[in-house]
Amino acid sequence: MRNPVILDTDPGIDDALAILLALISPEVELRGVTVTGGNCSMLAGLANARSVLSMARRSDIPVCAGVSTPLLRPLYTAAETHGASGLGYAVLPDATHAHTATHAVDFIIEEIMAHPGQVSLVPVAPLTNIAMAVRKEPRIVAAVKEVIIMGGAVRVDGNTTSLAEFNFYVDPHAAHIVMQSGMPITLVPWDITRDVMLYQSHIEQLLAIQSPVSRFLADATRFYLEFHLSSFGVAGCAINDPVALALTFWPDLAQYEYVHVDVEHVSELSMGKSVITYVGDTTHPPRDTDITGFNRSLGKWQNVYRPVPNVRLVTGFDHERFIARFVERMMQLAMQVPT
Ligand code: BDR
Ligand code: CA
Repeated sequence: MRNPVILDTDPGIDDALAILLALISPEVELRGVTVTGGNCSMLAGLANARSVLSMARRSDIPVCAGVSTPLLRPLYTAAETHGASGLGYAVLPDATHAHTATHAVDFIIEEIMAHPGQVSLVPVAPLTNIAMAVRKEPRIVAAVKEVIIMGGAVRVDGNTTSLAEFNFYVDPHAAHIVMQSGMPITLVPWDITRDVMLYQSHIEQLLAIQSPVSRFLADATRFYLEFHLSSFGVAGCAINDPVALALTFWPDLAQYEYVHVDVEHVSELSMGKSVITYVGDTTHPPRDTDITGFNRSLGKWQNVYRPVPNVRLVTGFDHERFIARFVERMMQLAMQVPT
């Protein structure tokens, strides 16, 4: 049986890749794509989501406009990473179908409440729409099956400021609300996704298939590859968002740890920083923990203050297996959508 999934996006090159992965994955029933501002404006992202679905000949998938600006801060976009349009060098024809009239926040609420315990919510954007949905209909907290979020730099430097990852930096207040909501959250942070690299060799494989899908992937990622080379000195591009989507059906690719995560939303200097507290040992004070808080059996610092875990954090990921499977699925999709 296919698992109903809502993808909340700010498309965005890697958001587009997540949409395409959802379309070709037999495990997924993509119920809808919801959009907020982030990599580009909400309206540009909406047009991108519709064009990508049109290009893949899946105009039947609902696309919903969401909240345009973060809860309290002005929108901060990422044209240097994703290009002025949000899709790198890709130029897609305008979509022929309109977006769905339902607002993204209402769509999320309606889908989750109509199918309690069944819908996987996969936010790969600033968490504005999700925070609004939680505030508008708190019963979604208990009704959602799982929430798999791409966001946060938990144990590494940020990719937007030295402390913060982009999705959490853009709307730190929303990220804070969502983290504290009580929803069953799996967090896939930048710590993990920065190593999930697509290379030019993968693109060459795809280009062997004549299809609008392979041309789109080549044009969009060319920009992304150039950005990664000039900014990080690496020859590949990190495809963050498809990882979160993939964990709805390939959970075994990851290792997890239950922790507490909150998001800084007061200090300008550390805005959007993910603050982790390890909660592994339930004894108090933790067994094997010395006076400085160092836990000898875990080999890491463990705070004596231990709140209840609110997040299943991805701490390891088999990126080689994932990338091989991702490329394989993109090839399948390209073959399904011939020129
Ligand atoms: C996240 O920020 C955006 O640029 C990407 O689409 C991804 O969701 C990575 O930090
Ligand atoms: Ca994104």
